[in-house]
Amino acid sequence: MSSEQIKLYYKNVLADVIGAEHGITRRQFEELAEQTCPKIKWLNEQRGAGKTPYRELPFREDISESVKNLVGQVRDGCETLVVCGIGGSALGNIALQTALNPYMYNIDDKQRRGPRFFVFDNVDPVQLASFFDWLGEGLEKTVFNVISKSGQTAETAAQFLYIRALLTERLGPAAAARQIIATTDKSQGTLRGIAEREGFRTLVVPDGVGGRFSVLSAVGLFAAAMCGIDIDSLLAGARDMDQRVSREDFFSNPAAINAAVNWHFYNRGKRNSVIMPYSYALKDMADWYRQLWAESLGKSVDLDGRPVHIGPTPIKALGTTDQHSQVQLYREGPNDKLFTFLQVENFERDLVMAPAPEYAPELDYLAGKTLGELLTREKQATEYALLEDERPCLTVIFESVDAYSVGQFIYLFEVTTSLAGALFGIDPYDQPAVELGKQATFALMGRSGLHGQSGSTYEEFARRIHQKTDIDSDFIV
Ligand code: PA5
Repeated sequence: MSSEQIKLYYKNVLADVIGAEHGITRRQFEELAEQTCPKIKWLNEQRGAGKTPYRELPFREDISESVKNLVGQVRDGCETLVVCGIGGSALGNIALQTALNPYMYNIDDKQRRGPRFFVFDNVDPVQLASFFDWLGEGLEKTVFNVISKSGQTAETAAQFLYIRALLTERLGPAAAARQIIATTDKSQGTLRGIAEREGFRTLVVPDGVGGRFSVLSAVGLFAAAMCGIDIDSLLAGARDMDQRVSREDFFSNPAAINAAVNWHFYNRGKRNSVIMPYSYALKDMADWYRQLWAESLGKSVDLDGRPVHIGPTPIKALGTTDQHSQVQLYREGPNDKLFTFLQVENFERDLVMAPAPEYAPELDYLAGKTLGELLTREKQATEYALLEDERPCLTVIFESVDAYSVGQFIYLFEVTTSLAGALFGIDPYDQPAVELGKQATFALMGRSGLHGQSGSTYEEFARRIHQKTDIDSDFIV
């Protein structure tokens, strides 16, 4: 395990590199420092007052102990682990798995350090039917980790109902209690009630920690530990990053610079934020980041309730794949994006290219070089091409991808999000727009009773939704 710190490289957002029309001048950087320092201080005070409980997750030994204890109970004999959850209950799990287990983990028993691992974060019947066709008799050796803080999300509830019935029908009434683990609020919500009644083993989504900030709680740690990921190193990385992102000196705080640069460019019309890992392992970290950034910063009102309709649009891309898909637009289209590359210095494995056949000497420049070098040089080449067109670029440098550096990355971007929220003047911890869609789904699926605080019923709500959204055949061609 490496204990190198990941680094944020920010030279290529400066006017010295990309010109004053699109870059940040030294003077502007000083101003950004002045504007951001009070926000760092404020965030540290908020933390001291217990307002950002996600910040304490890497220090919560009680959580890692409860996770390890449960892993000890269920790992033996578990051949397949399924996480049922969506959004913040799923994306961190997917990202950890892709980052820290081999590409062929599910396929190759030799590369597996735990059960096969799947995440259901959708309700597409074709996908799930195919999974259960494959699983067959393996159902008996499958553990289902149902994760929902609210316990009400329709997608997760639907998966849960299907799985509970399947286990009961195929394996008898005790199977659900044996094979379902519920991760939910410690005392409230539908899933907590069901778990207590049916005797499921449970893990807790800590109070005040929203889904997208929960990967370092039992939400992400249980599946990670089941699949052989070193959760102690993951948390150690986050703890070490905590020291750096708490610094009130702007120029030594990577979250502060990251947040300030993003905020600055948004205010100058660069409203899209592209994250582009040059590492397949980090591919799904881009997805995790996309939700963190979008749900946290996309807000209609500021902290005083004034309409603002604000928020950078996060876009994920993968190097080198998307060089051949997106980079044409990124270079020659509107200069409305900030690019954040993820670069890896040392790949865990590398492959050396063989000499070219003598009749194709034009390929000989590759001979003896590694694929890792090619990947990183392609990042450099793409960055150069973007800089030539005055596009600002940040880079997060990983010495290597391991549990420690991934823990640092997660924590860096969580705190970056909090600081960006402070700079934008919005609440990064709520998601009212997502909630409306959830409520509308309940109504359309026939839920009864009162809908939220509105005083109207789900039936009335459903009628309003139908009026607005049912297909009007006059407009079909
Ligand atoms: O970040 C969030 O809060 C959301 O993405 C939630 O994680 C997601 O909507 C799932 O919610 P729940 O865990 O309540 O099922």
